[in-house]
Amino acid sequence: MSSFLILYGTGEGQTAKVAQRIAATVSERGHEATVIDVRDRTDSLTLNEYDAVVVGASIHVGKHQEAIREFVSENRDALAGMPTAFFQVSLSSANEEKQEEAAGYVESFVAETGWHPDRIGQFGGALRFSEYGFLKRLMMKQIAKDLLTEERQPKGDIEFTDWDTVDAFTADVAAFVEGRLGVAPNDTEDPTA
Ligand SMILES: Cc1cc2nc3c(=O)[nH]c(=O)nc-3n(C[C@H](O)[C@H](O)[C@H](O)COP(=O)(O)O)c2cc1C
Repeated sequence: MSSFLILYGTGEGQTAKVAQRIAATVSERGHEATVIDVRDRTDSLTLNEYDAVVVGASIHVGKHQEAIREFVSENRDALAGMPTAFFQVSLSSANEEKQEEAAGYVESFVAETGWHPDRIGQFGGALRFSEYGFLKRLMMKQIAKDLLTEERQPKGDIEFTDWDTVDAFTADVAAFVEGRLGVAPNDTEDPTA
């Protein structure tokens, strides 16, 4: 069994939902998963309490949450010494033609923070017009127009996240961590012992 920290930033909750799904899948494999919203982290949070770290963030107006960028930059050395993964949630990832844009956000994040995660996942996000205030709704209508193909443009709330893709990413991350640490899924024994 290994311990995973899943730390995320979110604006409207979709990245939190993905983080919870990743935690559930990791737990099903017999590992321990701790999920923390970056806004709720305390000074006592130390990465060496965990065997592996997964960081998630969403895109708002071309940027990831500042608290995530800060956390990753501050903890870059610790992250470099352990198995890690990063996942990004955005509307760009919901459109085949905007993959380059989504990948560009990841590239900027890596360049800015200097952190090179072992695995990277990019997932489509959600639009929750019913929860946005007036200005955000206006902005999102325009962003949706720019980023989505006509047939995908929503009339109301819509979730583009492909959960099979999230599960496949998690399985890959878990298998990588198990390989690095020499632990088997659903097993507390060290198979190399
Ligand atoms: C104000 C606002 C700005 C956004 N800007 C972008 C953007 O520039 N590029 C993009 O791909 N998605 C953009 N999105 C879409 C979000 O990434 C998507 O809604 C995602 O699900 C948000 O995840 P969260 O709820 O965890 O914050 C934006 C969403 C909002 C509400």
